[in-house]
Amino acid sequence: KQSDTFEYNYDETYRPIYHFSPPYGWMNDPNGMVYKDGEYHLFYQYNPYGTRWGNMHWGHAVSKNLRKWEHLPVALFPDALGTIFSGSAVIDKNNTGGFGKDALIAIYTSAGKNQTQSIAYSLDNGRTFTTYNQNPVLTDSNIVDFRDPKVFWHDASAQWIMSLATSQTITFYGSKNLKEWNKLSEFGEGIGSHGGVWECPDLFPLTYDGKTKWVLFVSINPGGPNGGSATQYFIGDFNGKTFTPDTMNYPLWLDYGRDNYAGVTWSDIPATDGRRLFIGWMNNWDYANNTPTENFCSAMTLPRELKLAHNGEHLVVSSIPVKEINELRRENQRFDNQKIEKSYTFDKLLKDNVGAYEMEFVVKPQGATAFEFKLFNQNNEQMRFIFDLKNKTLAVDRSKSGKLDFSDNFAQTVINAPLPTKNSYKIRLFVDKNSTEIFVNDGEVVQTNTMFPTAAYNSLSFDNEQGIISVENINVYNLK
Ligand code: FRU
Repeated sequence: KQSDTFEYNYDETYRPIYHFSPPYGWMNDPNGMVYKDGEYHLFYQYNPYGTRWGNMHWGHAVSKNLRKWEHLPVALFPDALGTIFSGSAVIDKNNTGGFGKDALIAIYTSAGKNQTQSIAYSLDNGRTFTTYNQNPVLTDSNIVDFRDPKVFWHDASAQWIMSLATSQTITFYGSKNLKEWNKLSEFGEGIGSHGGVWECPDLFPLTYDGKTKWVLFVSINPGGPNGGSATQYFIGDFNGKTFTPDTMNYPLWLDYGRDNYAGVTWSDIPATDGRRLFIGWMNNWDYANNTPTENFCSAMTLPRELKLAHNGEHLVVSSIPVKEINELRRENQRFDNQKIEKSYTFDKLLKDNVGAYEMEFVVKPQGATAFEFKLFNQNNEQMRFIFDLKNKTLAVDRSKSGKLDFSDNFAQTVINAPLPTKNSYKIRLFVDKNSTEIFVNDGEVVQTNTMFPTAAYNSLSFDNEQGIISVENINVYNLK
């Protein structure tokens, strides 16, 4: 059944409240995110026939504010060239492709006998698409993993640039018309993580200290820092032909949690806005096909704004939820500042807690070399967040977080992220039924991890073995 006609159960236990999830069926990578005429488009890898991977289509939704999403009918269907794998979309402002001024053009992988790149255009803001009659537009029968085209218009070299995942490298192609592509260069040999296949690249500029740097995202599966799939990145320069990485200690990871994969950024955000906006798939190939949701599978991360930041040691790509998300805040519980010696518990975070809320607070470890806090429920289920300042790690422990038995790969003891030493940690933690997203110090350290508790976590306790920690500006908001 197609998603727009399906009578779906929106109230099932692990259906997120404020994260995007498909009405029915399986979802993986976000695709073709593009902004046009006041709408943020979100297409996505979609199986409309079941809750497991297969039969890939592009599902479609739009939003005016990155908070509420309107489900639209399936945008792209499998055809003679294959099923529809990941890709991107652009607005062809100058009609370089000849499909029409301001055509919305999707560039995607046709997954048939070989993986090839195809295009389709829409003249009605993504409501209907026509596939180009000369597809595919890019082939290479020597490479099995040849996919996930991400395209942007590069002003300086006056051409479209495509980043394409080509097995264990990213190959860049150039085109004047989106139809004919020629190879520019290849990046990735001997640098970064190569524990698995390279997928879903994205090349885009960000500024730091008034200087433009180019960032290259490469998703990799498996080989992530905590197992399974994850997104690594490189920072460097791009001259219209070649990407040259800065000397850094690669790999760097966008999100050290287990559940943020295949994310890329929106195209055609107006210059007056100027933000670089991102969304990722909130799951992991290690267990995605086993997760215990019923009528649907998977949600996206919150839409996030990416920036370059200096974490005291080196440049990083930071990410925080877009500011639009603040408008989801409903009832607010404010708690008094606490100086904590050993432990302290906030028994009841919210009066009505369905498991969809945001918490923010600042922790000042005044001499303590470690502290942790945990969210928990009456069934002894818990999510632990452990700040080890001596070993410079933020660990998330979901080994007692709720349902675990659906996959052997789900409950590992700790999920680690590097944590620079600071006098103060500003923490924002988003909980939405089956997910946690923690942002430390404006997104310099991020972890996204799913969980399947049998009741909402409505208590929070802090623990620190020695020393005193001060916890300040504690706010909890119901989000809706
Ligand atoms: C990443 C990925 C892509 C591919 C798509 C297929 O999760 O493997 O490389 O295009 O999923 O659904």
